[in-house]
Amino acid sequence: MRPGMWCLFSFTGFIYTCGGTLKGRNGSIESPGFPYGYPNGANCTWVIVGEEGSRIQLIFLSFAIEEEYDFLSLYDGHPHPANFRTRLTGFQAPPPVTSTGNVFSLRLTSDFAVSAHGFKLNYEELHSTSCGNPGVPPKAVLNGGGRFAVGDRVHYSCVPGYVLDGHATLTCITNAANTAVWDFPAPLCRAEDTCGGTVRGGSGVVTSPGYPGNYGNQADCTWILLAEPGDTISVIFTDFQTEEKYDYLEVEGSEPPTIW
Ligand SMILES: *[C@@H]1O[C@H](CO)[C@@H](O)[C@H](O)[C@H]1NC(C)=O
Ligand SMILES: *[C@@H]1O[C@H](CO)[C@@H](O)[C@H](O)[C@H]1NC(C)=O
Repeated sequence: MRPGMWCLFSFTGFIYTCGGTLKGRNGSIESPGFPYGYPNGANCTWVIVGEEGSRIQLIFLSFAIEEEYDFLSLYDGHPHPANFRTRLTGFQAPPPVTSTGNVFSLRLTSDFAVSAHGFKLNYEELHSTSCGNPGVPPKAVLNGGGRFAVGDRVHYSCVPGYVLDGHATLTCITNAANTAVWDFPAPLCRAEDTCGGTVRGGSGVVTSPGYPGNYGNQADCTWILLAEPGDTISVIFTDFQTEEKYDYLEVEGSEPPTIW
């Protein structure tokens, strides 16, 4: 090479940009390359900054991330370990999730093999009188809505062949901390004549079949709750009634089993 010559580099492979800081009332985020697959070795961080005093809600429209190898991590604030909230992976769109403050961050990390089609979500700034979209669980139908403000109600039903566990009607109320929240979590739709299942993700709800009605005779249901290795799981009962001495719920984990 002669002195004074320029060298040109060429990168082989796909060049992409990802992540960034987003401001504004609402908008949408897609993983790079969506829906044709995100790149391997990705590390993309999005920081959503809402107006002072607002909360940010994420509503997933599409979600497919190589299970257990690639992750979408959520941070309740700026993307620092102290704000880490949950890691999402797999092939089912998670329910809507809301930040506690006006900043919500997401980080997509992928390994060096196989990717999936990625994710698309809408985000929205919520003000103190809005509960935000309560979400539509698989096989459920949400009736009413459009507005999710204090005093509003939404009603759920299930598609044919599925039955509803949980509360069919939710009301947007103001809690003790003066934040608009739904009075109950969204119900689940379960295939008729089945019970139990595997639940994963940062948090969730499990109800007995037919709840808040009575469960049937001869029920034998097993639920498996999965968390990240190293995490612990806490189970908080909000209602509990079983026929004393005859019916029971057994809770087993890495701790010795407990019988209720
Ligand atoms: C943002 O809000 C406006 C006004 O409410 C609406 O027309 C638009 O569709 C929204 N965009 C997204 C991505 O939700
Ligand atoms: C992703 O990038 C952030 C900084 O932008 C860095 O702190 C983090 O360690 C990276 N994660 C991985 C898995 O490379």
